[in-house]
Amino acid sequence: VKIIKKIEVIKEEISLLKNQKEVIGLVPTMGYFHEGHLSLIDIARKHTDIVVVSIFVNPTQFAPEEDFDRYPRDIVRDEKLAKEHGTDIIFYPEISEMYPQPFYTYVTTEKLSKVLCGRTRKTHFRGVTTVVAKLFNIVQPDIAFFGQKDAQQSVIIKRMVKDLNFPIDVIVGPTIREKDGLARSSRNIYLSPEERSQASIIYKALTKAKKEVEKGNRNAEEISKLAYQIINSAPLAQIEYVEIIDDTNLKPVKIIKAGTFLAIAVFFGKTRLIDNIYLMKKK
Ligand code: PAF
Repeated sequence: VKIIKKIEVIKEEISLLKNQKEVIGLVPTMGYFHEGHLSLIDIARKHTDIVVVSIFVNPTQFAPEEDFDRYPRDIVRDEKLAKEHGTDIIFYPEISEMYPQPFYTYVTTEKLSKVLCGRTRKTHFRGVTTVVAKLFNIVQPDIAFFGQKDAQQSVIIKRMVKDLNFPIDVIVGPTIREKDGLARSSRNIYLSPEERSQASIIYKALTKAKKEVEKGNRNAEEISKLAYQIINSAPLAQIEYVEIIDDTNLKPVKIIKAGTFLAIAVFFGKTRLIDNIYLMKKK
């Protein structure tokens, strides 16, 4: 695996590969790999000739009071894991490489960035779409890979790709979970043992809600109430939202139908966890 830190260098490398008609895959990450990242690299490996993984803890998607400084980082371990999973190139730029000063241009996906997590994280998705647009321009992938765990992020990126005519396919890989159902996340390491053990309630609520829908209940209010009550039964859980929404416009639905998912954000102590499940898959 090659580690490249400079935009000019990776652009040159990519242009050589494109001349050889190689299909380029990009897995954008903030590093500190867990099984979720590795499964995306595996999926990319199956779909493309050259797998590029970017590792960049993107400052513009963190608000000043958020965890940018303490966000976990371990490039040595990441390099080893990326190599084991067949990554060809790691793009690992410095902040000054991605955001040379002055920097005045941002990409914003209206509407979709204001709901769910966007209600409390007001500049988060602007940071995500800006850095992802930059990565798309730098790496010029044929296919880019994101995780279903960040459902809103995936919907927004698909929208951006359509709206701005990026010639890129977006593939969304499944959420990878711990044994007790907790979705893998770099932020899980912040949880105290007690918070960690209670956090499995999130997946219990998601699966119970899905079962109720499978039994025939299509009433979104009833299903979200049920999920809310289950999570609320964990003493350390502080719910931010429990919402049932459509996966194209992220609007709440009243009647559950194909393409509807249940999305949850909940604090355990200072740690904010998100998760989601499709209640009915798109046909
Ligand atoms: O999902 C993430 O890790 C980040 O939001 C992403 C897509 C790498 C952009 O910084």
